[in-house]
Amino acid sequence: MQKSLLQALSGEAIWPPPVWLMRQAGRYLPEYRKLRAQAGDFLSLVTNPNLAAEITLQPIRRFGFDAAILFSDILLVPWALGQGLRFAEGEGPLLPPLRDETALAALNLANMGEKILPILETVKKVRAQLDDHTTLIGFAGAPFTVACYMVEGRGSRDFAVTRHLAYARPEFFSRLMTLLIQATIDFLVAQISAGVEAVMLFDSWAGVLSPTQFRTQVIAPTRIIVTELRRQFPDVKIIGFPRLAGYLLGEYAEGTAVDGLGMDTASNPTYLTGKISPHVTLQGNLDPMALLAGGNALRNETNAILAAMRDRPFIFNLGHGIVPQTPPEHVSQLLSQIRVG
Ligand code: CP3
Repeated sequence: MQKSLLQALSGEAIWPPPVWLMRQAGRYLPEYRKLRAQAGDFLSLVTNPNLAAEITLQPIRRFGFDAAILFSDILLVPWALGQGLRFAEGEGPLLPPLRDETALAALNLANMGEKILPILETVKKVRAQLDDHTTLIGFAGAPFTVACYMVEGRGSRDFAVTRHLAYARPEFFSRLMTLLIQATIDFLVAQISAGVEAVMLFDSWAGVLSPTQFRTQVIAPTRIIVTELRRQFPDVKIIGFPRLAGYLLGEYAEGTAVDGLGMDTASNPTYLTGKISPHVTLQGNLDPMALLAGGNALRNETNAILAAMRDRPFIFNLGHGIVPQTPPEHVSQLLSQIRVG
């Protein structure tokens, strides 16, 4: 049996469209909160293959999404490179900020292979349990977004320190980016070899950059990653998600040659369907707040997206991750609506 998500990523207009949701495994599910409490903290959960595989599969069992996404995090790359990482309750990720030669020199790509072994074990366990119509998606943060957290040491509204560093010390920043490009390739190659069938590059902070910096820090590195993955795995499908890239989305799709383009909440599907080549599959972009609200708001927003995307290659998703307060019943409501076609 063909998998609908892979068909869509091959350029077929499947209707009703395949659907999965960013952060579909997580705190909005009671079964997740239970395992999370058992593991203690998030990193222990992600590096425990039995628990991580179970969490990856929870939303598939409950809702029957067309794709499972590996339960992990984009910050596992800095962690595997040896930068300290912890997730503080209520604060999000915390890392020792990387801003000088000493900190950069301390990162070690050679050790990464060993540190990511539990994550690859999770991939194998999920593939062994997944049915034959559900696609397993692997992922990594794109180099710029990962660099944002590494330099800043935590989340930020505008990642000003990182943007300033990229202008003020371009040579230093470029060495960090080169390391991250290689680490991302190694991590994704390992995930594909272990059994993921498509990969997604999360560039959540692409939208904070100027157009010239967007070309240097987002398009060019992504292009290198896509080219190398295709060289090794000609059939692998790649989705890019340069969040809040706005008018640069078209240039991103052409410049990176991704198979799928993630639309964020602010993207206009009607505009993009005319602008983006029909060979590129669009994915997105329901506002997570409409899913939280449910009812007519959810129904109307969903209809608008479906109407704009009908008859072109498309994957239904959110415009950003699901929020923890979301009632699981709203997800069921959404799926029934999409699957009526
Ligand atoms: O989508 C999925 O279900 C797969 C798993 C996944 C997680 N994070 C699990 C997670 C994926 C694909 C990510 C990507 C990720 N992580 C991004 C890119 C997408 C985006 O949201 O923009 C970013 C920027 C991160 C970094 C990160 N991880 C932050 C900022 C936080 C804290 C904020 C939060 O939502 O709690 C995390 C923690 C994290 N990653 C959780 C989960 C389920 C919450 C952990 C918990 O407390 O249980």
